[in-house]
Amino acid sequence: MHDGSGRVVVQGLTKTFGQVLAVQNLSFTVEPGTVTGFLGPNGAGKTTTLRMLLGLVTPTAGYATINGQPFHSLGNPGRVVGAVLEAQSFHPKRSARNHLRVYAAAIGVPDQRADEVLRLVGLADAAERGAGGFSMGMRQRLALATALLGDPQVLVLDEPANGLDPEGILWLRTFLQGFARSGRTVLVSSHLLAEIEQTVEQVVILSRGQAMYYGPLDRLRKSQQSRVVVRPADPQKLITALQEAELTAIEHLPEGRLAVTGATPEQVGDIALQAQVAIYGMLTEHADLERIFFQLTSGQFSGANLDPYQQQQYQQPQYQQQPPPGWQQQQPPQQHPQQPGQGFGGGY
Ligand SMILES: Nc1ncnc2c1ncn2[C@@H]1O[C@H](COP(=O)(O)OP(=O)(O)OP(=O)(O)O)[C@@H](O)[C@H]1O
Ligand SMILES: [Mg+2]
Repeated sequence: MHDGSGRVVVQGLTKTFGQVLAVQNLSFTVEPGTVTGFLGPNGAGKTTTLRMLLGLVTPTAGYATINGQPFHSLGNPGRVVGAVLEAQSFHPKRSARNHLRVYAAAIGVPDQRADEVLRLVGLADAAERGAGGFSMGMRQRLALATALLGDPQVLVLDEPANGLDPEGILWLRTFLQGFARSGRTVLVSSHLLAEIEQTVEQVVILSRGQAMYYGPLDRLRKSQQSRVVVRPADPQKLITALQEAELTAIEHLPEGRLAVTGATPEQVGDIALQAQVAIYGMLTEHADLERIFFQLTSGQFSGANLDPYQQQQYQQPQYQQQPPPGWQQQQPPQQHPQQPGQGFGGGY
């Protein structure tokens, strides 16, 4: 039996599809009581990871557990984990209520649970309607209702906000946060940070199947240095003076402006005064989260190597778990055929 913890552990997870290295040595833990965002651009390996977690894809190496057990050892998994993966299909003529009753029977929960979950996801009024006529947002809600049938301890949702209108996104946010506050575990993927930024406390940011950052979203936000943007009369003279003061992280911006990272406005102002360079304007810019996300994941389709700035963001997972019973160590692939345009959705 499982340990009842509600904890999700991914350890050294790797998956290759032929030449494509979809997920590389990925490790993270999702604790109960939190909503964790699983973020990455298209083709980053989010769905593949979630499918491995749910026992739908066999890992090439590593393992994933829910409640300390691989999915297949959970006994009645529908009661432990509810999942919504991409491209859910419903019998088009079957009503939402009947669709749910079929699934309820499959996992051994009473029929009346169908109406309870329809209410939970705001579809009570559409209970009699055929799912074939549902809008995209309604289909997402029905998929979520299906995942909730077994009153699971863990929710795994792949891009659940796709197709939801702003009201739907707000509803989903409130729902997931309430679900987590009741001591349960939520892992939710998205390719858009903005979509789940206000919902999640923790993030795993994936690029090319590798974790670029794993930890609290707040820490990521605070880890970013602000920069001073200055418009000097003589940019070159100011650059020389800044460099003499060992402020070397200087970037040229349009209209002769300079961006200086790692300096305070007072420092830049004093240095300019000493160098007798007139300043026509100055402001402090704080890194916005969207830019950080883009920087962490932008190498995916260009084939660019990670720069030290990006590597610095990666937090080693804090948890080194023991493999679950029955887990066989498999050798990771010998080669890492990660060329631009080779299998990483180069058409994007
Ligand atoms: N069954 C498969 N056979 C071959 N390659 C696959 C298979 N499934 C996934 N891949 C490849 O693995 C990589 C990761 O795909 P995955 O679907 O996990 O990405 P994703 O992060 O979910 O992307 P998206 O945001 O587009 O949903 C991609 O290069 C994809 O083409
Ligand atoms: Mg996907």
